[in-house]
This record gives sequence, structure tokens and C-alpha cells, in this order.
Amino acid sequence: MLIRTTITEVKNAVAAYRSENRDGIVGFVPTMGFLHEGHASLMRRSKAESGLTVLSIFVNPLQFGPNEDFERYPRNVERDLELAGKENVDIVFMPPVQEMYPKPVKTKVLISEVTDRLCGASRPGHFDGVGTVVSKLFHIIGPDRAYFGLKDAQQVAVIAKMTEDLNIPVEIVPCETVREADGLALSSRNVYLNDAERIQAVVLSQALNKASELSRSESETPASLRGKLVQYITEAAPLSDIDYVEVLGYPDLTELNNNLPLKGINESWIVAMAVRFGSTRLIDNRLFTAKEVASHV
Ligand code: PAF
Repeated sequence: MLIRTTITEVKNAVAAYRSENRDGIVGFVPTMGFLHEGHASLMRRSKAESGLTVLSIFVNPLQFGPNEDFERYPRNVERDLELAGKENVDIVFMPPVQEMYPKPVKTKVLISEVTDRLCGASRPGHFDGVGTVVSKLFHIIGPDRAYFGLKDAQQVAVIAKMTEDLNIPVEIVPCETVREADGLALSSRNVYLNDAERIQAVVLSQALNKASELSRSESETPASLRGKLVQYITEAAPLSDIDYVEVLGYPDLTELNNNLPLKGINESWIVAMAVRFGSTRLIDNRLFTAKEVASHV
């Protein structure tokens, strides 16, 4: 496994592969490190589908707000490299901040509308930082495919829109969320939870199961489902503090018709939520396709 910390070195490593493998596929897994099984599943998928897998580990200061957890974001490079080695990653790109942002940044990638709601509304500027760093990484690595976890479904939608709008020649591959045995979605931020919070954090995935159940009813509208989920979370998890619970079209994240039952909605939609436990903000979501809801009839 090659470990590269500068842009020139990683570009040379990818170029060397490409020059020897004209038809070879380069798969890319961008991460902020503190890797877990969710990241491992992305690396495995890339390994299975690509001739070369590049993993980046970079805690991107641009996507954290002034009062967010950039400084205390969990980091463990030694463990990350061990995990990447186990997954047979070919190249790890782990640049210092100075390498990615040697001068004050004057150019940002702003993706509109799809960033207006959900985490975009709660974390102003977050997706400008994500769009900027991901487009830089795409230009540096030049992958054919990039693998992203659907736990961050809005991020997947934002990056897919950005690559489409800017004609960045990379296929965005959304991958299923990986969960703990009790349903909690894996996240590097789960380490912040204390014991009581960890027990109650399962309410997110339970609420999503409830959403699946409720959406099969003839009368459940986006608004009624949202209301029931808010009530469910509040009652089942007294330590929770809801940031948002939304039922929206996906991937555009637009309002759904509230006069129609979800069963009658002829587009994909998402139930997305962000819930705080103490200072830890967790997100989770479930995607529904019109076919999927109908198949429960
Ligand atoms: O999902 C993440 O870990 C980050 O937002 C990403 C895509 C690596 C950009 O910093």
C-alpha cells in the first residue's frame, strides 16, 4: 500500500497505474478518517470494481462551521492505515491541511437548491466546503468511480449534481448504510456518545422502520408522517433534541405534494433526520422508491 501526502506524489502514483493499465478503472473512496466498517464496505466495493483503489483521509476544515467539531473530530491515523491495509487499498492519500489549502481559498464550489434544506440549512456553508474539497480531490486523483455512503444521502445528491453540472468525468456510486446490530448507522461521531445517549440513539433507525410501516397506509401524507416521527422520537428518546425530520423528494430534496398519500407519490423520496444527543449530532435516512411502497400493498 502506497502512502502519499503530497498532490504531486499521489498524481504520479495514479499516472503510473494508468500508463501501465490503459483500460484500468480507478476507484476512489474519499473520507475524513477514523475509519469504520462503513468505510471498509466502500473500500471493498471499490476493490471489487476497480483495478486501483485510492483512499483519501483528510479532515477538511472548509466544511466545518466556526462552532463545530473540526478540532475535536476523532482522528487515529495508525488504526486507519491498518484498516486500509486489511482492505488491500492500493494508495492512501493523506495530505496535511497546508498541502490542500496552501493559500487562503478564494474559489469555492457552491451547489444551490439541493443544499437549501436538511444539513445545508442546519450547517450553513457545510456543503460549499464539501463541494470544494471533493472537486479538488476529483481533479487531483482523476478517478473513474467514487464511492459514497448513503448515510449522507444529501451529500450524495449534492456531489452527483456538482459532477453533472461541472462535467466532472466520474461516476458517483452510492453505497448502502452500514449499521450496528441494533440499527444505529455507523458514524465516526458515534464515539462522542455516552452510554445513556448510545442506548437512546437507536431511536433514529427505529423511527425509520416506523416510517416504512406508516408509509404503507392509504392515508399517510408527507406532513402526517413527519409529525408522527417527531412525536415518536421525542417520546421514545427523552435525551434527544431534534434538529430536523423531513420527508422530501430525492435526489432533488424538493417538497412533496402534501395532499397526496405517500403511496400515491410517483417519485423517489427520502425520510431524513438529524437528532442531537448532548453535543453529538447524528443523521440517518431511508430512501423510498414509488415501486417499493407499492410492493408493500
Ligand atoms: O463524507 C465525508 O467524510 C466528507 O464529507 C468527504 C466526502 C470526505 C469530504 O470531506
